[in-house]
Order: sequence, then C-alpha cells, then structure tokens
Amino acid sequence: MKILLLGSGGREHAFATKLSQSPRLTKLYIAPGNAGTAQLGENVNLSVTDFEAVKNFCLGSAIDMVIVGPEDPLVKGIADFFRSDTALQHIPVIGPRQKGAMLEGSKDFAKDFMYRHGIPTAAYRSFDKDTLQEGFDFLDTLAPPYVLKADGLAAGKGVVILDNSGEAKAELTQMLMDEKFGAASRKVVIEQFLPGIELSVFVVTDGVSYKMLPSAKDYKRIFEGDKGPNTGGMGAVSPVPFANADFMAKVEETIVKPTVNGLQADGVTYKGFIFIGLMNVEGEPFVIEYNVRMGDPETEVIFPRIKSDIIDLMEGIAHGKLDDTYLEIDERYAATVMVVSGGYPDEYEKGKLITGLDDVDDKTTVFHAGTKVDDSGNIVTNGGRVLAFTSLASDLETALRHSYRNIDRVQFDGMFYRKDIGKDVL
Ligand code: AMP
Ligand code: GLY
Repeated sequence: MKILLLGSGGREHAFATKLSQSPRLTKLYIAPGNAGTAQLGENVNLSVTDFEAVKNFCLGSAIDMVIVGPEDPLVKGIADFFRSDTALQHIPVIGPRQKGAMLEGSKDFAKDFMYRHGIPTAAYRSFDKDTLQEGFDFLDTLAPPYVLKADGLAAGKGVVILDNSGEAKAELTQMLMDEKFGAASRKVVIEQFLPGIELSVFVVTDGVSYKMLPSAKDYKRIFEGDKGPNTGGMGAVSPVPFANADFMAKVEETIVKPTVNGLQADGVTYKGFIFIGLMNVEGEPFVIEYNVRMGDPETEVIFPRIKSDIIDLMEGIAHGKLDDTYLEIDERYAATVMVVSGGYPDEYEKGKLITGLDDVDDKTTVFHAGTKVDDSGNIVTNGGRVLAFTSLASDLETALRHSYRNIDRVQFDGMFYRKDIGKDVL
C-alpha cells in the first residue's frame, strides 16, 4: 500500500514510525514532513492545504490512501474534495469531512452538538457583535473565573480564562469588536468554568462503530508547575493513572457512544480520529473540547502503545470494518518529553545544529517535531517544538527516567524542556 501522510510534526513522525512497521506498507510519502520522517519515507514539498497540489501528487504517484495529521486541511474540506472528484474518489482519506470537522472548527457548533445529544459539558452561551451587551449581562450571571472562547480555529490561543469581570468584559469586547483572533473571534462562546483535572481520550470511528485508543494527559504550559503561556504541549503520558476502568466506562457511556451516535443521527459520515479533551470533575467526565485529529504530543505516547498493525486499523476506518479489526494495546506506560527552542511559544530562532542524536539509547525513541536537514546534510531545528523523547516501561517513573536520561545526550543552542512531566500523576 502506498500512503501519503500529511503534516510535519512529532505526531506525523510517530504515525510514520508505526506505518513503517507494517509489512503492508510499500511506500510512504510525508508532506511536508521533517528530518525524522525523511528517515522512514520520502518527504514531499507541498502545502497540506493546497488541495490541487495534493491531488496531482496522489495521481502522479498512485497513492492508495491519504492520512491527515493536522486539523487545517480537514476544516478546509480535504475529505470532501477527494469524495467529489471522480479521479480521486477511490482514494480513502483518513479524517472527517468538513461537516464533521466543525466539531473542532467551531466551538459554537461543538457546544450545540453536545447539548442536542445530551453529552456532559459546561453550560454556555454564544455571542457576536450585535449581542455584546447580552454577553456582558451573561458574564454578570456567572461566578469567576470566566472562560471565553473564540469560536473558530485560533492556533490553540483562542481560549482566555480571567478572574475579574471587568477584564472578562474588556476581553469580550476585543474579541468581538476588534476581532482579536481575526475571523475566529467574530463569535465567542462564554462558558461555565469547570474545576478538575484534565485528560484526553482518543477514539477511531468508521462512522458507525468505534474503538477506544488509550487515554493520555498532556502538559500545555511552558513552565514547570503549569505556569506561563500555553504551548502546543510540552510532554504527555499514557495511560492516565487516575482514568481507571470505572471512570473510562463513564466516558464511554456518557460521551463516546453519544458522540458517535450523534454524528450518525445528524447525517455526518465521520471516518477518522476523535480527540476528546475532558475535565474530571470529582469523578464525573465533562467535555472541554473536541479535536478531529490525533493530538500532538499525545500521539507520541499513544501510537508506540499500539501493538497491532496500524494499516489494518486505517483500512477498518476507511471501509467501515472497524468491528472486524484487531486492535492490541501495550499494557506498559509511555511518557514523552518535548524539547523546545529557547523563547517558544513566543519568538525563537531556527536553524540551530542538533548534536548527540546517535548517543540516544534503545530505551527511548526520539520523534522529530520541528527539524530539517540543512544544505550541508546536518539536522537543524526548524520549529518551536523540536524533539519529543518517548520511552515505554512497566511503570511511569521508569519511562520518564529513560526519556530524561536521553535528553541529556542531545544538545542544541537554546534548548529547553520541562523537568516535571508526569510528576502530578505519579
Ligand atoms: P481548549 O482550547 O478548548 O482546549 O481550552 C484550552 C484550555 O482551557 C483547556 O485545556 C482547559 O485547561 C481550559 N478550559 C477550557 N474550557 C474550560 C472550562 N469550561 N473550565 C475550565 N477550564 C477550561
Ligand atoms: N496537545 C494538544 C493538541 O494536540 O491539540
């Protein structure tokens, strides 16, 4: 099978690693990929949202399946583009069509979906330019902290949580009237604050049946003790120790089943991944958000725990055969620690030489997140998040120890990482 994988992060390197382990893979292309994926297949220099370029490549290289890593092409309708083009119809796309991708593309759509299908989530209301005053009045009915969310995609920055009602009103004004997050904040969801501990669950569905992948917890803030600005994710662990069988059964019954059934009832054919961000509020799960793809760096702890063939799983999704597909999960714990460029998530420099990768021992897999091969053939930094160090062990502490030991063997100018990944759940 010839596969085209779209994306360039640690998530895609983890996907590529798993795909390469399948005897069914004949050729892997990654667009645009990074220095890590280049070791497993052929990187193709095209933009993931340039559908015409993707089409030409697929036809020219006789691609059998397209796997979509990031949300952008899904929200822009890549799956619909393939379905509606007679030359492309035979190529399955792993990822939902535009309507299903709205679960991530619009917070208002996602909240409305949850309300209609009785899925537990924070109480909310949505506002636009014309209802600013009503937004203020609604804020007055809530107790702090105040949660404001730009409706559309805002590169993970569109959620603002404030303790003070004056600040919340000023923020709402900026979002709606000044379009602080561009078109993404023309509509704003204001919702009840949910106190608790976060985790994520991952589901694959073929549109009718589903399978649960392992749970994971990521660490979003840049500094130790969950301080400082949000990032794409500074590390992750899987499984989540507090997500015991009892809790996961609640998640499946009250959230996963109604989500998959709700999509079907709404006439949305959804073939792909559903990433459900949850808050555990005193043992009860509530949905914080949906994403329509795998997480990054969650994939870097979940995929290494999948023992069965990943292409079988992708085909199960594509052809409505998930019920007959074998999925085996490694019982061990996985931990990943993300090493980032100095200054990230704000300004940072690129092009720094990375040394020591050959000294990493076999207890740890290094997934490249933001790297490239420069003109002299050296591996250099090419993004804010640079490398994810993943280790597996029978306990979380050991997995973390392996990752941290191997980070010490790698250097680049300005490298930074959190030393407390997983500590809160040990
Ligand atoms: P999101 O982009 O929707 O994942 O939101 C970013 C972060 O804001 C989440 O990971 C949570 O930590 C926090 N958050 C979002 N909604 C709520 C809520 N209703 N109550 C408490 N925290 C929230
Ligand atoms: N790690 C969070 C995300 O992928 O959105």
